[in-house]
Amino acid sequence: MTGWFSKVVVGMTIRMPKWFVGWVSRRYVAGNTIADAVKVMQRLSKENACFTVDVLGEEISTMAEAQYFYDEYAKLITAIIENDLDSNLSIKPTAFGLLINREKGYQNIRNLVQMAAQNDMFVRLDMEDHRVTQDTIDVVVDLHNEGITNVGTVYQGRLFRTLGDIDYLEQQLGPGADYRICKGIYLEPEEISHTGYSEIVGATNASIDRMLSAGAYCAIASHDKPVIDHALSALESYKMGPGIDDPRLNAGKPRNGKGPGYEFQMLLGVRGPLRRKLAAKGHRTRVYIPYGEKWYEYSIRRLKENPTVGAQVAKAFLMPWTNRP
Ligand code: FDA
Repeated sequence: MTGWFSKVVVGMTIRMPKWFVGWVSRRYVAGNTIADAVKVMQRLSKENACFTVDVLGEEISTMAEAQYFYDEYAKLITAIIENDLDSNLSIKPTAFGLLINREKGYQNIRNLVQMAAQNDMFVRLDMEDHRVTQDTIDVVVDLHNEGITNVGTVYQGRLFRTLGDIDYLEQQLGPGADYRICKGIYLEPEEISHTGYSEIVGATNASIDRMLSAGAYCAIASHDKPVIDHALSALESYKMGPGIDDPRLNAGKPRNGKGPGYEFQMLLGVRGPLRRKLAAKGHRTRVYIPYGEKWYEYSIRRLKENPTVGAQVAKAFLMPWTNRP
């Protein structure tokens, strides 16, 4: 169900009281606090999942706001270590000030990535909309050039530029390249992006192929069967799989907390049965755990950005038993 009906559901939901949006979102957001996120991770650890945690909130309007994210992520690193969780971090570069002051934003990100490195933890720079695609890639390259290598970013299959970006990062980082590939949540203009479902799936699958042939660490972030099935058969053609050391001659060294050259990633609350099936076959599966006080703003923004989420809202409303945390 997409199109006009989905848009109507989204239009209605964003006018609903906060408690209703909270009820719809509770399956996708771990809670308000670090303790909530820890509890969810402890539960999902029993399903052989590992994690990447996101403190909710995105673009900020003053540099002072970046301090909130820096402090919260610092506390999060401590909580992950203290609770012995298999988790890394996902951060939004604009929440650290990248669009307000490039240099200060870079320093904030650099300090956090260094703090994570001291704890042997990886940091993923989530990819936001096209205004920051190049800056985000540049931050990763600059950090690697400074010798700070526990960091990577995300490619959005829907963007026309993505295959070129994969080649660029392969040249810049060689076997140190470590990416998440997803379709891309932001509905970008048709001048720079595919807009139809099958084109987006085709482009995302082509990106997976290019990343695998480049020797990059490939985190496949999708709940869509055609993407996952394509990734599984591409992995098979490289003889990559659970329990097998990455056989690609151009691959980087194995990394702490990572799979053998690849892993699957899914969002909290989405397609748990499929994730568990992959985990049962031995694939490394990572769950993206968003939490934070800004859950309401996050939920509303996501609803407005991508009205196809309306299908999930309608399902939660019509079949409430499917809307479990
Ligand atoms: P698709 O949207 O076609 O979903 C396939 C099926 O999965 C649906 O039919 C439905 O059954 C189920 N499903 C999907 N979303 C659901 C939901 N919210 N609730 C319930 N069911 C749902 N994007 C981006 O631009 N930058 C980024 O950094 C990231 N990071 C990221 C990390 C991780 C771990 C994931 C899984 C995704 C992202 N994304 C992202 C989002 C990504 O780009 C994409 O928008 C979503 O994953 C939806 O695309 P799918 O490939 O899952 O297919």
